[in-house]
Amino acid sequence: ETKIWKTDAAQPAAQALQEAASWLRTGRTVAFPTETVYGLGADARNTEAVSAIFAAKGRPSDNPLIVHIADRSQLAELTAPPEEAVLRLMDAFWPGPLTIVLPARPGVLSPLVTAGLSSVGVRMPDHPVALALIAAAGCPVAAPSANRSGRPSPTQAAHVLRDLDGRIDGVVDGGTAGVGLESTVVELAGDALHVLRPGGVTAGELRRALPAGVRLVEAVEAPTAQETPRAPGMKYAHYAPRGQLTIVQGADRQQVLARMRRELEAARARGERTGALVFAEHADAVQADHAAVCGRLSDLASVGRELYAALRSFDEADATFIVAEACPEEGIGAAVMNRLRKAASGRILQV
Ligand code: TXA
Ligand code: MG
Repeated sequence: ETKIWKTDAAQPAAQALQEAASWLRTGRTVAFPTETVYGLGADARNTEAVSAIFAAKGRPSDNPLIVHIADRSQLAELTAPPEEAVLRLMDAFWPGPLTIVLPARPGVLSPLVTAGLSSVGVRMPDHPVALALIAAAGCPVAAPSANRSGRPSPTQAAHVLRDLDGRIDGVVDGGTAGVGLESTVVELAGDALHVLRPGGVTAGELRRALPAGVRLVEAVEAPTAQETPRAPGMKYAHYAPRGQLTIVQGADRQQVLARMRRELEAARARGERTGALVFAEHADAVQADHAAVCGRLSDLASVGRELYAALRSFDEADATFIVAEACPEEGIGAAVMNRLRKAASGRILQV
């Protein structure tokens, strides 16, 4: 059975956190809120504990885990001393939704965490519950998103339980995650900072924080079969509802909505249970068996916050055919569209 600790996000309940932290310290798996999504944590040095994460999620063993710290002093044990540009990024974005891939110090982390790579992704989450829990545990905490592999990441404790109840030891329920999308994963190579996964920190924010002479190289999507993505996790089907999802994209919003209506009508005629992912501005523009409103187009951060709950809602509604309207790839919109394209396995209708 999975234990649930409820706590206020802003003022973590000390007793609940002490207990959850001692569970982490003694090799158990505990899910907890971060500012991005819920993570499923375990002591990153303990191979048995880390293997329980992979087992609970059904995660492929070649996909490495992010290691979470509460204080920069924990870094020296885990990685080689970071370069100047990396220190700048830490100053600018930690605590926050930025994971930095660094050369790992050998012999400290469980080899399962790095999945055989010589590097490790590290991040300091910007969430009072996560920070207090990691600090109290006193160990580096390996934590992938707390969903079954391939499902949308959880932004609420209820999502974690829906996927992992009975498969993990505990979950700290600290309410809804604020960003709603995972961290941006970056790696410095010479004079280039590579974005391995777009996320909560935008390309523009990274560019502004980088020292002169370091350029930003944005993530390449849909790598060919020969090309291994630098973030191993990016090659897997992800974030997908059970129904078949198709994105409708185009410069003219009225045409996009008209095409969505046509697709929905045709699907209904085929006997599908239909779903539509729309922005609040267009809530009345399409009819479906289940319409999920996903934030406001005029506020892309709200779209990021609500995306995963919207994707999950199609499963609750047993939707078999889903259309989603695209958003502009500006700011956080880049990460939204990255996740939506994965959920759609590349099915995009351009109008
Ligand atoms: O916001 C987040 O990052 C959340 C919260 C819980 O912190 N965590 C998360 O973890 O999204 P996960 O395991 O779902 O995604 C980790 C991503 C994967 O794409 C993985 O391949 C990549 O980071 N990654 C981890 N370590 C890496 C490494 N050493 N080199 C390259 N990519 C790495
Ligand atoms: Mg994940």
